[in-house]
Amino acid sequence: MITGKTAVAGVAGNPVAHSLSPLIHNAWLAAAGIDGVYVAFQPPADGFRRFAEGLRGGAVRGINVTVPFKEAAFEAADEMTGRARAAGAVNLLLFRPDGTVAADNTDGEGLIGALAHQAGFDPESGPAVILGAGGAARGAATTLAAEGCPDIRIVNRTLSRAQAIAELVAGRAFPLDRCEGALEGAAVVINATTAGLSGQAPIDVPLHLTRDDAVAMDMVYKPLVTPFLARAQARGLRTVDGLEMLIRQAAPSFEAFFGRPPPPEVDVRGLALATLEAGA
Ligand code: ATR
Repeated sequence: MITGKTAVAGVAGNPVAHSLSPLIHNAWLAAAGIDGVYVAFQPPADGFRRFAEGLRGGAVRGINVTVPFKEAAFEAADEMTGRARAAGAVNLLLFRPDGTVAADNTDGEGLIGALAHQAGFDPESGPAVILGAGGAARGAATTLAAEGCPDIRIVNRTLSRAQAIAELVAGRAFPLDRCEGALEGAAVVINATTAGLSGQAPIDVPLHLTRDDAVAMDMVYKPLVTPFLARAQARGLRTVDGLEMLIRQAAPSFEAFFGRPPPPEVDVRGLALATLEAGA
């Protein structure tokens, strides 16, 4: 029930109607008995700054930020955590009562948590390949570097963008059409491209070159088993899906908005899977 004291948080994206974040956060709110609500906002594609300015002062506790606003949210913040600064993007803004805007990036925590939970993967265990060089790839690269990954290899269609990220993390850059050297002996391969999302061909790299005990992860969760993950499974690799990362970045966000961790007994993955299967 919505009351006069209901705390409001949400997610901002464009488009945002497909977001599973409202489902996840509202399930946690209901189970925890918190008088709060989590809604989706769709600012105009060029209007994030105005939207965020309007929320200063704390009418809304905070928002998660998704595509295409993660860099704009970085610009809108007055202060931020070190991990958000390293990622160059934020997925969490908090609107303090004093009018300031604080930012964080919990995507890296989601990434590391998903790799550990679904595959028992430790970032220190070997070379990591990141496919893509956008904001998602940069966040993955800076997180893996911070977690002690010994060798980071960035593969991208546009080599210059891969080089920019490789420089940040003292890694190496490879063009997508000549990426054998990147895949060779890899312990983990993470798809952070948007290839395949809007009708183009899905990403295809020589997975047979990785270590036999390698892990493949896709940040996309729709479908849950992407063509990239299906290929990895056919090769016998362990796989980690984007839904696990989504849930594991949501948990610290929930705590930042509502002051306590999400109740562990709620099967938010089951809820999200049911929604995905229903085609919503
Ligand atoms: P985000 O910030 O969400 O990561 P982005 O900045 O648009 O999104 O980055 C998308 C990534 O997917 C880029 O690495 C892009 O490659 P380019 O830098 O060469 O554009 C990659 N990508 C998108 N479509 C692709 C395709 N069809 N094949 C290969 N890579 C693709």
